[in-house]
Amino acid sequence: MFSISPRPGATLFACIVFSTFLSGIAAQEKLPTFGDKIDVLGAMGRTDQDFADGLALDLFSPKNRTLVVKQNTAPLPAQFVSGTTGSPFVALMNYSYIITMNETANDLIAKIEIPFDLGNLAAQGVNPSNTYVGTLAADKQSWVVNDANRNVHISENNTRIIKMTSLDGEFMLLGRTTVDTTNVFVQYGQGETRVVNMTGGPGIQEAEFVDGLRFSTQAEKPLRMNVDIVNGINPATMPANTQSLNSFAWVVNTSDPNVRVNSRVNVPFNRAMLAALKSNGTSPSQSLMVARRALNATTEKFTPIPRAQQTVNEQPEDRIAIQGLTQLDGQYIIMVV
Ligand SMILES: *[C@@H]1O[C@H](CO)[C@@H](O)[C@H](O)[C@H]1NC(C)=O
Ligand SMILES: *[C@@H]1O[C@H](CO)[C@@H](O)[C@H](O)[C@H]1NC(C)=O
Ligand SMILES: *[C@@H]1O[C@H](CO)[C@@H](O)[C@H](O)[C@H]1NC(C)=O
Ligand SMILES: *[C@@H]1O[C@H](CO)[C@@H](O)[C@H](O)[C@H]1NC(C)=O
Ligand SMILES: *[C@@H]1O[C@H](CO)[C@@H](O)[C@H](O)[C@H]1NC(C)=O
Ligand SMILES: *[C@@H]1O[C@H](CO)[C@@H](O)[C@H](O)[C@H]1NC(C)=O
Ligand SMILES: *[C@@H]1O[C@H](CO)[C@@H](O)[C@H](O)[C@H]1NC(C)=O
Ligand SMILES: *[C@@H]1O[C@H](CO)[C@@H](O)[C@H](O)[C@H]1NC(C)=O
Repeated sequence: MFSISPRPGATLFACIVFSTFLSGIAAQEKLPTFGDKIDVLGAMGRTDQDFADGLALDLFSPKNRTLVVKQNTAPLPAQFVSGTTGSPFVALMNYSYIITMNETANDLIAKIEIPFDLGNLAAQGVNPSNTYVGTLAADKQSWVVNDANRNVHISENNTRIIKMTSLDGEFMLLGRTTVDTTNVFVQYGQGETRVVNMTGGPGIQEAEFVDGLRFSTQAEKPLRMNVDIVNGINPATMPANTQSLNSFAWVVNTSDPNVRVNSRVNVPFNRAMLAALKSNGTSPSQSLMVARRALNATTEKFTPIPRAQQTVNEQPEDRIAIQGLTQLDGQYIIMVV
């Protein structure tokens, strides 16, 4: 058919166009997979790379680079998540991605996108709005999520991390199995809906209560925790020359006080309460400390947690961070010195 063309040049052109078209199809059919070396354009050209399993990387790099995506089939379990107010989380895939650039690259404009399957989400009780791409923390004890750079693309069935400046790291698609889709907080009191469930194991789990009291805990065994608010602090139970900031104590009880934990607790304070007690403008850092006593105590005095374990983080946070608690049961107050 082409041989009768009056213009051989046009035939050649058509052949080139057609073969380019074919190779385009071939490229689409053969998306790269784990271990393949991907060329990253330099000079802030856009590299928009899809992978065979659905992963998509989209980046601008000032320099020519290469990257490789590997598959980790034994990732940290998905219940260990930090950076959010609440759990529980489940894995929405049974492997994770390890992305390695051929050289250190903290100068990118990058986005990672992982598709989800609506059937899988429904089976696991996850609302699409509760999907997250977790990034493995440097200490490898939790998947870090961050609502400020999360973007769920419901119409495209995928979830992204945007605003990235580096792509090196390990990533996995996670789902939170709560009915509520925005931040979730734990309520004070007893009862099943107010229990914080910790799985136990190598990772960290976090929970935040309605006032901002926040626990980041690694527990050696499964552990359940309730926190209650109990009003009324007997001044006689306060160390000499101190008073309680609040009229109440936080009462923490776990299912097994003998389970060893490594916990960080952030205790919120209300600076208006301090101003009411100390009219000369004493700052929270100068005057606030967390103290505690045994869970069953009645007349026992509160004892300050060693100063080396606590840091007052002022505005905008206004919480006292306690590090390295090995046991959580007890009554906690904020003491004004
Ligand atoms: C980057 O790669 C492109 C081809 O992909 C090449 O034309 C260019 O010269 C390279 N730039 C540098 C600085 O190596
Ligand atoms: C990374 O890859 C780019 C593109 O191939 C190359 O120009 C650069 O030299 C490589 N960097 C290192 C440290 O090998
Ligand atoms: C991972 O999940 C896929 C489907 O989602 C399944 O086909 C595969 O067998 C699973 N692999 C393992 C090791 O569980
Ligand atoms: C999203 O998933 C649903 C159900 O599997 C499917 O019908 C729909 O076409 C998907 N949307 C896109 C953009 O792939
Ligand atoms: C805590 O875990 C138990 C089982 O271990 C489960 O029945 C309960 O629903 C969980 N509670 C919450 C609030 O997730
Ligand atoms: C905490 O104590 C209350 C009452 O003493 C009890 O009902 C609850 O089960 C305890 N919580 C846990 C997690 O064991
Ligand atoms: C405020 O008064 C307390 C004693 O009530 C004193 O210890 C503290 O140094 C004073 N702070 C300032 C900023 O004057
Ligand atoms: C609190 O419990 C401890 C041991 O669990 C016990 O030794 C102590 O007597 C109890 N104190 C009170 C006031 O019941």
